[in-house]
Amino acid sequence: MTFHIGAKPGEIAETCLLPGDPYRARWAAERFLDGATLVSETRGMLAYTGTWQGHPVTIHGTGMGMPSLSIYVNELIRDYGAKTLIRVGSCGALQPDIALRDVVLAQSASTIGSPSSSIFREMRYAPVADFGLLTKAHAAATGPVHVGGIFTSYTFYDERPDLNDQLQRHGCLAVEMETAELYTLAARYQRRALSILTVSDHILTGEALPSADRETGFSAMVEMALRAAFT
Ligand code: HPA
Repeated sequence: MTFHIGAKPGEIAETCLLPGDPYRARWAAERFLDGATLVSETRGMLAYTGTWQGHPVTIHGTGMGMPSLSIYVNELIRDYGAKTLIRVGSCGALQPDIALRDVVLAQSASTIGSPSSSIFREMRYAPVADFGLLTKAHAAATGPVHVGGIFTSYTFYDERPDLNDQLQRHGCLAVEMETAELYTLAARYQRRALSILTVSDHILTGEALPSADRETGFSAMVEMALRAAFT
C-alpha cells in the first residue's frame, strides 16, 4: 500500500490503462478484462486488475489534471513497478479538420508548466510518447485518427483565448490536462507511455459530445490501448 493506492504488492499489473474518471476504470474493467478485481478504492479512485487475452492489466483512475495524475503515476511506477502506462482520455480539438469523436494520439505534449517543471529549471523539456506504442495504437485504429502534438493545460476554464490561437497556428491538435506529466514521468523512469484521446469538444466551434456518445469513443480507445500494449 502507498499513500494513495490501496493495492497489495503484486496486485498491480505491469500494463496500466489510465482513464481520468474512476467510474470509467470500473466500466472498462467490467467490459474488457477477465476476472476483474477491485484492487484499490482509496479516496474513491477505483483500480481494477484482470487479464485481457491472458495478459495482466490494471485499469486505474487518475483524476483530472497533472497534479492528480502525477501522484498515481509516481506510485504506480515507483512502488508497483508499472512499465507500460496508457492514458485513455478526452480532449478539446484545436484544428478545423479534427471532428468530435475523432481519436488523437499525442506524439508530444507542450505545456506552460507541469509538476515536474521545477527540476528542469530554465530548460523547456519536450515530453514525447513512446514510439512503439504510438505506431501500434495507430495501426489498431478503426476510425479517424490524428497524430501530432497536443497541449497539456493546467486549467479547464482558461482566461487566455489568445493562447489557443497560437497553439492552433503552430499545429497543435488538441488540449487536455494530463499528458505532459505522464510522458515526463515515463521518461524519468524509462517506462513506456502513450495518451489516446477522444475529441469530446471542439475549441473552435464550441460543439460538445453528448455523454451517451462518450461511452462508444471510450470503448474504442480502450481497445486501441490494449492492442498497442500487447501486439
Ligand atoms: N480543455 C481542457 N481539457 C479538456 C478539454 C478542454 O477543452 N476537453 C477535454 N479535456
